[in-house]
Amino acid sequence: MKRTHTCGELSIKNLNEKVTLQGWVAKVRKLGAMTFIDLRDIYGITQLVFDESNVIKSTNIKPEFVIEITGQVIERKSKNFDISTGEIEIKVTNLIVINESELTPFEIKNDIEAQEDTRLRYRYLDLRRPEMQENFILRHNLYQLIRKYFSENKFFEIETPIFGKSTPEGARDFLVPSRLNKGKFYALPQSPQLYKQLFMISGFDRYFQIVKCFRDEDLRIDRQLEFTQLDMEMSFADSNDVMETIENLLKNIMLNIKGIEFKENFIKMDYSEAIDKYGIDKPDLRFELEIKTLDKVFETTSIPLFKDKSNKSIRSICVNKILTKKDLEHLTEIAKQNSVNILAFAKYDNNEWTGSIGSKLSEEEKASLINEFKINESSTLLFIIDDYYIASKALGAIRNALGNLLSLIKKDDYKFLWVVNFPLFEYSDEEERYVAAHHPFTMPSDESIDNFDTDFKNAKAKAYDIVLNGFELGGGSQRITNREIQNRMFKAIGFDEEKIKTNFGWFVDAYKYGAPYHSGCALGLDRLCMLLSNTSSIREVIAFPKNSSGIDPMTNAPDNVKLTQLDELHIKTK
Ligand code: AMO
Repeated sequence: MKRTHTCGELSIKNLNEKVTLQGWVAKVRKLGAMTFIDLRDIYGITQLVFDESNVIKSTNIKPEFVIEITGQVIERKSKNFDISTGEIEIKVTNLIVINESELTPFEIKNDIEAQEDTRLRYRYLDLRRPEMQENFILRHNLYQLIRKYFSENKFFEIETPIFGKSTPEGARDFLVPSRLNKGKFYALPQSPQLYKQLFMISGFDRYFQIVKCFRDEDLRIDRQLEFTQLDMEMSFADSNDVMETIENLLKNIMLNIKGIEFKENFIKMDYSEAIDKYGIDKPDLRFELEIKTLDKVFETTSIPLFKDKSNKSIRSICVNKILTKKDLEHLTEIAKQNSVNILAFAKYDNNEWTGSIGSKLSEEEKASLINEFKINESSTLLFIIDDYYIASKALGAIRNALGNLLSLIKKDDYKFLWVVNFPLFEYSDEEERYVAAHHPFTMPSDESIDNFDTDFKNAKAKAYDIVLNGFELGGGSQRITNREIQNRMFKAIGFDEEKIKTNFGWFVDAYKYGAPYHSGCALGLDRLCMLLSNTSSIREVIAFPKNSSGIDPMTNAPDNVKLTQLDELHIKTK
């Protein structure tokens, strides 16, 4: 190597040494006859100084040129203690331009204001920015730690196929046409779920994999079409064994990556409690604000909106602040996005009640509300009357918005919890039937084992999600390993013998040959990286992500293909 040091390496200890550095020009500043250049690489920034004797050589240097310099380490007059190299600079004696650069479409620095599509179009430049490089260094460190942890705990890392079979249930598959098998399609894996279960039957005991998964879903800040899971499965293990393994991993990650020690066990919260208190199955526990059911308070009310309670619940949230008209409009918009048209409110200020509901409250109702929410200062109460789940979901979204609106969230606060006891089924309006809430291989809970296939509504699953700061980080379950239970499960979701055989025959057959009981889990690594790096979208921690329309603005994928390509694949586009 020609360079003797990186741009983040030199300090006062290297005074007077002759060094050679290579890197990108981050900044050029002229001060009279002197020129200062900040030289940057992934390790840091070093200041170069050109005095009168060599100023000519530096005059044509522009930002993002790649240069090589040789010079002497000298002490800086005005020191910068914010960076590791801030006490020294290099008095340049020789300079070589390795490559010039055109003017970049945005400045290569932190906190830029460029449009996201411009950043994605020139992603290689975006990735040159120090804050982006930090995200990927963090991601690298995370991967090394995960591999070490699982290897030390006797898990084997084994790869699973990318070209598989399309199976019903779950999200929409990405299909890949087979040239060799006319009219047939592979599906890209939504997760390695079935393969990892087969590893347990094969006797691998413990498996893990850092693996790409593919789901044709609408994109969101925490969703991409292709994303990465940390996938794992354990034999002779139940839900608690898996939760303990994942929890220890996460504590290890928090300690080694964020320097935060978690001594207590993560909370385990029933799904029904999460919905009841927070309106969502991934509650953000960084702030309190619990949702309450007020059916009793308004049992004999004369408020017209609350009179008709058939199949409805009155649910409410209370904040210790008088919300403005603008705040209320914003929150009403969120209610509407969640299928609720009316967000009623009452304001309590100086013993006076106002607002759409406030002026109509009876004395008894006022007293009950004060008691229910322990109100002792100016407050705003928000109410929704609707189906219990619809009202909960809308208030859950409003609660999350209030967390931001009222600045209730502290920086660098991490609140993990397990959500357990999920419903085994959910009703699909589209298909007009109950479908498996997770996947059809999830074991019913002990309490539901006798009647899960008759009492769909109340059946619970041995499934668990790990939640961090309002995001679903991962999920898993104990699997069905008993053929009789599996058949009951298939029947429950309306699969007949024929459908089982064509879709899952290959998989179900494996359980005829001696299966250990087993459980597993998968974490979304993009989401974990996003939260650890305090970024606002998983796109910030994926090197080349798609934009929110599923397009890569750099390559313009997806794009048209030649007719001959389609012909070869036996495909005609509509
Ligand atoms: P699940 O479907 O819950 O479980 O997925 C596990 C985790 O993967 C992440 N994730 C995503 N991340 C980014 N973009 C997406 N489109 C996306 N979809 C999911 C989430 C999620 O919690 N096979 C089961 C696990 C098991 O039962 O062992 C599974 O895939 O963080």
